[in-house]
Amino acid sequence: MNLSEKYQSIRAYTEAICEPLQTEDYVVQPVADVSPPKWHLGHTTWFFETFILKPNMQDYTEFDPAFNYVFNSYYETVGARVIRTDRGNLSRPTVEEIYKYRKHVDAAMNEFLQKKLSKEIREIVVLGFNHEQQHQELLFTDIKYILGNNPLFPAYKADPKPANNDDFAPDSNHSFIKLEEGIYEIGYEGNGFCFDNELQNHPVFLKDFRIAKNLVTNGEYLEFIDSGGYKNFNYWLSDGWEWVKTNHVEAPMYWYFIDGKWHSYTLQGLQLLDLNEPVCHVSYYEAYAFASWKQKRLPSEFEWEAAANHFNWGKRWEWTESAYLPYPGFSKAAGAIGEYNGKFMVNQMVLRGASEVTSPGHSRITYRNFFQPNLRWQYTGIRLAQ
Ligand SMILES: [Fe+2]
Repeated sequence: MNLSEKYQSIRAYTEAICEPLQTEDYVVQPVADVSPPKWHLGHTTWFFETFILKPNMQDYTEFDPAFNYVFNSYYETVGARVIRTDRGNLSRPTVEEIYKYRKHVDAAMNEFLQKKLSKEIREIVVLGFNHEQQHQELLFTDIKYILGNNPLFPAYKADPKPANNDDFAPDSNHSFIKLEEGIYEIGYEGNGFCFDNELQNHPVFLKDFRIAKNLVTNGEYLEFIDSGGYKNFNYWLSDGWEWVKTNHVEAPMYWYFIDGKWHSYTLQGLQLLDLNEPVCHVSYYEAYAFASWKQKRLPSEFEWEAAANHFNWGKRWEWTESAYLPYPGFSKAAGAIGEYNGKFMVNQMVLRGASEVTSPGHSRITYRNFFQPNLRWQYTGIRLAQ
């Protein structure tokens, strides 16, 4: 696929994700972390308009100069913007206008991508692809939050697969993979795309360790709940214990105990909890507490990367015990693009892998995702180490 075909296919996938939505679903922002779908549609478009078309295409006519204020996410370099918590208060621009905005930018981009482009510009275009793919995953998680916190539990898609709630096959003390003590190369090396936070490739010394072949399942997590895991401070980090008490947390997000059975909200609607599925929507605090209840721990991000060729991954973002920090030699790009990752390297934990709603072709073994330890609306799960 050339750049222009790739552009069209990524942009079309974003709109396909929104296809099942009703107009009202596009607008609401139930909590600060969840952006309205229409904001994602506008913001990903703004990214191409701001970083590609406006600086590089001479005859480009901006769709609406006021949109910079509305669709800039966090780029101080690019000026003032609507505060994040107010994204859901914007009844205008309308969903229809935002789709027109997308068409306007798409037409200009398709023309622009026919030209001979410098390496620097091509790199920003590819960053724009990867940026839009990140927002595609956020669209799934934000849509899930919007619909899953509606008391009617509407389904996003109506093709439920039957859940397995009776036949639980515990798997915890079984298969651990052992890796030998040694020096492992960590970080991205190659000619493809990676984010700046995956650089530089560097050696890391690891003591020998074991890492679980499989993710922790709902059934295993239920054993933690049933044995009083949420009621015993011993398993929890201090911040985590405060979080449990303040928020009265008793189970992963989207779990509901109804008529004596655990259910969970899925994109297919409210379903009986599938005990053999990997646990999902847990915070770092919960992942840590589960691991300590099991007398295990979470892997470091380096252990995860060193071992990742030995197990299957890609269903859940896997919490690691590593704080999100720059690799040795990390440098950020000049200008607004330098704000992409580097400025978030404080108070967040690294997640490795990918999830079932990560866009096709968007995952890498060196990929570093990151979230605050209390957040759990992403497809987060647990892999144990020891
Ligand atoms: Fe963004």
